[in-house]
Amino acid sequence: MSESLKPVTVHELLNRKRAGEKIVMLTAYDALFGRLVDEEGIDVVLVGDSVNTVLAGRETTLSATLDQMIYHGRSVAAGVKRAMVIVDMPFLTFQVSLEDTKRNVGRVMQETGAAGVKVEGGRSIAPTIRALVEMGVPVMGHIGFTPQSVHALGGYRVQGRGEAAAARLIEDARALQDAGAFSIVLELIPSAVARRITEAVEIPTIGIGSGPYCDGQVLVLHDMLGLNEQFKAKFVKRYANLADEVRRAVRQFREEVRSGQYPDEAHSFQE
Ligand code: KIV
Repeated sequence: MSESLKPVTVHELLNRKRAGEKIVMLTAYDALFGRLVDEEGIDVVLVGDSVNTVLAGRETTLSATLDQMIYHGRSVAAGVKRAMVIVDMPFLTFQVSLEDTKRNVGRVMQETGAAGVKVEGGRSIAPTIRALVEMGVPVMGHIGFTPQSVHALGGYRVQGRGEAAAARLIEDARALQDAGAFSIVLELIPSAVARRITEAVEIPTIGIGSGPYCDGQVLVLHDMLGLNEQFKAKFVKRYANLADEVRRAVRQFREEVRSGQYPDEAHSFQE
C-alpha cells in the first residue's frame, strides 16, 4: 500500500500531537462526501449525530437513533479509504447499562466498518470509556458544549468561562485520558481554556469553536461549505457558498425546461 493510502491510526494522531502537526477533521454523512474529503487528505471523518439537525431537519441531536448512525456510518466508511472514520454514539445508547452500551458500540463497529466511536461527556462517562477501550474500541471524548445536553446547558453557549468551570473541564479531560480515550473534541470553549486543556493532556484535542491552540480542528462539512445556511455561529468560516450555487443551478434547470432549451440535441439520443 502506498504511503499516501496508509490508513490513519490512533498512533499516528498521537505522533502528530508530539510533532506539533495539526490534525484536520470534518464531518460527513454519506459515501459521496466521505470520498471527497478523504481524497483531499482529511485525517479524521466524523459521522456526527449532527446529521439529525443538518440532514434530517430535527431541532436537536437528541432524537438521532442507533440505526440512523449505523446507516450513515456504513455509507461514509464505504467512501473513505485513508481517513479514520469515527461514528458518534447517539443519546441513550451509551448512558444505559454497560452491557447495552457494549452491544450498541459493538453494532456500530461491526455494521459500519468505522475505526472508532465518539461519546459526549466528562468524568462521569470515564468508566464507560474504560470498558469500551478494554473491549478494543478506540474512543474519542467530547467535552465543553455537548449538544446532547443542550437543554441542561441552557442552550447553545460557550462553556468553561471562569476559573472553577475551566478547572472542571481540565479535570474532565484528564479523566477521559486516564480512561483510555485517544482524543478529545473541545466544543465552544474559550481559547485560553482550550489551550490549558491541550497542554494538560498527552492525547490530541480537536477544537470546534475553541480557538487556535487545540491540536486539531473540526467543522461540520455542510456549515463550512455554506450549505447549511440556517446555522450561524461566530466560529464557522464559510469556505464556499454552495447553497447559492445549488439555487442558481436549480433556477437555470427550471427555466431551460420551461423554455424548451433543455434537453437539446447534445443531451438526447439519436436513432
Ligand atoms: O455531531 C457532530 O457533528 C459533532 C461535531 C460538532 C464535533 O459532534
